[in-house]
Amino acid sequence: MADYPTLFSPLRLGGLELANRVTMAPLFLGYGLPNGETSPLVLEHYRLMGASGAAMVMVENVAVSPEGKGSPFTMLLHEDRFLEGLAKVAAAVKEGGAWAGLQLNHGGRYAHAPQPLAPSPVATGERTPRAMTAEDIVRVTEEYAAAARRVRQAGFDLVELHGGTGYLLSQFLSPRTNHRQDQYGGTLGNRLRFPLEVISAARAAVGPDYPVGYRFLADEWLPGGWTLAEALQAAPRLAKAGLAYLSVMGGCYESFFLPERLSQEKRQGYMADLAAAVKSVVDIPVIAAGRIQEPAYAESLLARGQADLIGLARVLLADPQWPLKARQGREAEIVACEPTCSLCFKRIQQGQPVLCSQWSKQKRAWAENLASGR
Ligand SMILES: Cc1cc2nc3c(=O)[nH]c(=O)nc-3n(C[C@H](O)[C@H](O)[C@H](O)COP(=O)(O)O)c2cc1C
Repeated sequence: MADYPTLFSPLRLGGLELANRVTMAPLFLGYGLPNGETSPLVLEHYRLMGASGAAMVMVENVAVSPEGKGSPFTMLLHEDRFLEGLAKVAAAVKEGGAWAGLQLNHGGRYAHAPQPLAPSPVATGERTPRAMTAEDIVRVTEEYAAAARRVRQAGFDLVELHGGTGYLLSQFLSPRTNHRQDQYGGTLGNRLRFPLEVISAARAAVGPDYPVGYRFLADEWLPGGWTLAEALQAAPRLAKAGLAYLSVMGGCYESFFLPERLSQEKRQGYMADLAAAVKSVVDIPVIAAGRIQEPAYAESLLARGQADLIGLARVLLADPQWPLKARQGREAEIVACEPTCSLCFKRIQQGQPVLCSQWSKQKRAWAENLASGR
């Protein structure tokens, strides 16, 4: 049995008793329908993740409104009609024994929308977003709250707010994308205002006994951008707002594809230092992610106190039996995510449902078959 005493030890997270320290980090796969609904492939994928042996599965980012969709295939939760489909996803995850969470997002300036919204009109590619008015800020905050309430109604055990990947919440934090002159821009305290208001509204919507987690961007990895130094000042303030945990990541779409980042990203644990730094300034659990491939490495991060939980995204997609194999001492059988492969990213860019190059022919055929007719 397991040689990883910390990895397979329990942890209390916002009132939930997690059986071990393995979680599925959110991984957008483009399996949703263009109308924002779930699909048979979404359901079966998350059934598999729920049965992986991970203690908690965070369903990929779902948009709080159509104008917040990150892609044409992002699922939606801005109306009650989406409850039925997502309730089935929550049940599918829980059937396998994992706690089920759902991540909520607004893409802001990266959104797949005719006129994206953002803190300030800072262009990305050829598109320039519209600066949010005070009314937009109130409306979008309410959209987060309403969607968070639906996450609970759908039967999920917790909700996560997506403050990573350079999406809207982190756009307010970054001096690169937030040039506002009002109370939402300028000082760190002002740039934190919108994320804090969203956390507060979401918490009020779900109630005090329901965990709200946060995906936290610790560094944009861009000149003039959001840096770890500011992130370390911000993290305790976010934590104090009543979050159940911080799930730490680095980078945004403007930095992900820079040559130094592409080579860094091939390294095991490439974001673990960020998680460790954040963990040193907060007293809530911290999740580390980023190519955490070997169970022994995961164990060492936890044992050294660099993180409280491990987040596996592509790693778990490549081998949904990672936790089971690690626990049973079968780590040699783990099918690794291939560092030189970016098939998942490429498929998303092509508007195609994600496949993994490490899957067997049968598994690919299974996914393609379920996705057909999408
Ligand atoms: C295709 C793809 C989709 C992703 N989707 C999300 C997402 O919806 N929400 C999120 O917070 N992070 C997302 N991430 C980041 C992952 O959660 C994770 O931090 C990152 O992939 C590193 O972990 P890994 O090496 O195990 O994949 C995504 C990453 C990839 C490659």
